[in-house]
Amino acid sequence: MRHLLSTADLSHTQALSILDTAEEMAAVSTREVKKLPTLRGRTVVNLFFEDSTRTRISFEAAAKRLSADVMNFSAKGSSVSKGESLKDTVQTLEAIGADAIVMRHWASGAAAQLAASDWTDCAVINAGDGTHEHPTQALLDALTLRRGFSAAQGQDPRGTDLTGMRVLIVGDILHSRVARSNIWLLRTLGADVGLVAPATLLPVGVEKWPVSVFYSLDEALGSGPDAGPDAIMMLRVQAERMGGAYFPTAAEYTRRWGLTDERLARLQAHRGALGQTPMILHPGPMNRGVEISAAAADSPMNQVLDQVSHGVSVRMAVLHLLLSGSERNTA
Ligand code: NCD
Repeated sequence: MRHLLSTADLSHTQALSILDTAEEMAAVSTREVKKLPTLRGRTVVNLFFEDSTRTRISFEAAAKRLSADVMNFSAKGSSVSKGESLKDTVQTLEAIGADAIVMRHWASGAAAQLAASDWTDCAVINAGDGTHEHPTQALLDALTLRRGFSAAQGQDPRGTDLTGMRVLIVGDILHSRVARSNIWLLRTLGADVGLVAPATLLPVGVEKWPVSVFYSLDEALGSGPDAGPDAIMMLRVQAERMGGAYFPTAAEYTRRWGLTDERLARLQAHRGALGQTPMILHPGPMNRGVEISAAAADSPMNQVLDQVSHGVSVRMAVLHLLLSGSERNTA
């Protein structure tokens, strides 16, 4: 593996290898000295053309825990505002000595274009490209799901996949790179995936995807204790990517597709296919009172902060696999 651009490119073996390496990295993060010397002398550049809190800081923490040098580039306040192209920006960073570029860009396909270009020899990691993909988010979500369920069963998560797990992804699927990366990875790992959204927030052609589609969250949650999902992933309504009105009002959206207090209570009583209380996931940032109630945001079922911690382990694993040793330049 030379770059990480999409979860659709990952085989079952590669996905498990990243997750298992992330488990090793998580052990490093619990030590008194949270550092490995693996990437000493290597430089990782965070190249961000869109806003970010979690992803950028998480990649920075991951690179530093592996002893790499980190440079942070944000398009705001840079020569991009003077008209500099992506090619010239990237070649400038490479001249400064970058070995890996972690890029977030508003254009779908930007990371793939960079990886295929002759502008740089750096390893390219996609940290979110438009509405296309966000592979490390899906990997950290998979780590969270795998950990939660194996812990409840008293098992070691390593080497296991998500076979038999039912995961519902709810909300603005149309604009969500998180949803796309999750769908491909969850399917590769053997989970069943359901999508829940207003018809206006589902992409054209979704019926050809390997998922079940629901237009009603209440229907997707089902009734009875054995019904419903093992995990529910709530997505933010990405108003910044919307040119028009995709649903009548925010209140109407919450009433029909939000994780309200009433739906939280129903979920609490559920035991999904694996017989455990369902997990709530959210990639962040959460919009409390829109897609998720304050009670659901603060519920012990909500994994959002564990997801953030797991993000550091997953990104350490990805940087390690791409930059150290024989995996570099082999595929
Ligand atoms: C997401 C993103 O930017 O794609 N956030 C993240 O990286 N954790 C989702 C979002 O912005 O809603």
